[in-house]
Amino acid sequence: MKVFLIGYMGSGKSTVGKRLVEKLSRRDETNFDFIDFDKLIEKETGKTITEIFDSDGEEKFRLLEHEYLKKLLNKENAVISLGGGTPCFHNNIQVINNNGISVYLEMSSDSLINRLSKAKNKRPLIRDLNEVDLKSFIEANLEKRKPVYQKANHIIQSDQLSTDVIIEKIMKVIKKEK
Ligand code: S3P
Repeated sequence: MKVFLIGYMGSGKSTVGKRLVEKLSRRDETNFDFIDFDKLIEKETGKTITEIFDSDGEEKFRLLEHEYLKKLLNKENAVISLGGGTPCFHNNIQVINNNGISVYLEMSSDSLINRLSKAKNKRPLIRDLNEVDLKSFIEANLEKRKPVYQKANHIIQSDQLSTDVIIEKIMKVIKKEK
């Protein structure tokens, strides 16, 4: 079983993914791998995400995402926390849904703005934005991406939930999909 966590930057995909792996491994008595997709790209290319954006541009980064996503498909038993933009480029959302269970960690733009204003530095799309521009960028970009995120197999509205509760909810929805 492969579980793909999708959602906007700052929605908690990595934190949730790491802990979900422990729970799933215990439940199924099988070792699940945790894959932080940004980190995987950084490891494979030897560059940070920021360096890729700076030296090669966003378009090249989107191609790399597509390429590495396809390389992941033969993996068994893994939880993969994707980048915020991954599902929204090329035909990645179809690739994701055809090859695993996708879960959208949905968060309102207000929560995301709040969380991301303290975590901009390693995120090239927003690192140079001031408070006002950050707000309008996130609002507009989230609206644009939402229709794609909403194609996920399951949606967890996460604004008010602790990591533990989010994980419980994910465990419940993926229960029947071994
Ligand atoms: C991006 C999200 C980032 C990273 C890159 C672009 C996006 O991942 O892939 O900076 O387009 O939303 P996180 O969602 O882990 O921050």
